[in-house]
Amino acid sequence: MQFSAPPGRTARCTGRPAARRVQLCLTRPAQARPSVAASAQKTERFDAQICVVLGTQWGDEGKGKLVDILSQQYDIVARAQGGANAGHTIYDDAGNKYALHLVPSGILNKTATCVIGNGVVLHLPGLFEEIESLKKKGVSVEGRLKISDRAHLLFDLHKEIDGLREAELAGSGKQIGTTKRGIGPAYASKATRNGLRVCDLRSLDTFADKLRKLSLDGSKRFGEGYAYDVEADIVKYQELAKQVLPMVTDTVDLLHTAYAEGKRILIEGANATMLDVDFGTYPYVTSSNPSIGGIATGLGLPPSKYDALIGVVKAYTTRVGAGPYPTEVFDTLAESLRAIGKEYGTTTG
Ligand code: IMP
Repeated sequence: MQFSAPPGRTARCTGRPAARRVQLCLTRPAQARPSVAASAQKTERFDAQICVVLGTQWGDEGKGKLVDILSQQYDIVARAQGGANAGHTIYDDAGNKYALHLVPSGILNKTATCVIGNGVVLHLPGLFEEIESLKKKGVSVEGRLKISDRAHLLFDLHKEIDGLREAELAGSGKQIGTTKRGIGPAYASKATRNGLRVCDLRSLDTFADKLRKLSLDGSKRFGEGYAYDVEADIVKYQELAKQVLPMVTDTVDLLHTAYAEGKRILIEGANATMLDVDFGTYPYVTSSNPSIGGIATGLGLPPSKYDALIGVVKAYTTRVGAGPYPTEVFDTLAESLRAIGKEYGTTTG
């Protein structure tokens, strides 16, 4: 059963408020299959050495909850793509709330090692804020968080450019409705090949030169509207480098070694299939591959090793931001679905 827009309202996308847009979809799949989440709850141990959890819609399907349940059984929990545009809210047994954006949800399992893979775009100040907030709640990442030396760094300049590009697009009513976390511009730097990687933090002199050059691109393109203090960031990153380098490693080697030793690896997808830059509703998508390809390239683990792929689906669909959504529902029905389903994002509100 689907609902169309009420008379006088088109389902065409304009800039959307941050609250998720909702669509009811009560159609049954032709062949109803038991959900893996349900079987995982029934069995004592989910029997897959490498298990991948992906979002199948537009995000916010509840991947974090499932990853949190499964991570109790896994040695390693890894993120492969995306950045702080993703958000997972998890409550522990005592009702404490944890809002995670970059740190894998497995951090709440005290025996799990968490990996941020090469495909992730990493905003270090944001990461350390998250680590600090976890610490305040008694969760230590000490020795348990491993960061790829190949992951690209996302700087405040990328967030600045994200905002400026959205403002430009707003003029023509074509903004994407990004999370303004700098995701698109950071992946653009990676593809342009002038981005900086975590391993660049090992040589701070060349790091400074590279960052100045990268920033010049932004100031040339956006002129006076571009507000980013590159020298201040260079100073800030001297300190951040000291803090992060003990966590930095070759995560491809780490994962392959762990696999060979029989360790169990859970891979936590971020965002979702319909936001995939190749397979989603382009251009209203994110800038990584949240479907299966992004897992392989984002961690360097080949698909032949994956024993289980779990696609998380919720009974209705929600979407944040702009883009096609022909069966969107509006007004009272939308409001009540939003309220009942608590459809307010960890990242977007
Ligand atoms: P970006 O990833 O911030 O560039 O945003 C691109 C589009 O993806 C926007 O429509 C966002 O609202 C959407 N988006 C990105 N990540 C998520 C997510 O984790 N959940 C829901 N929507 C997301």
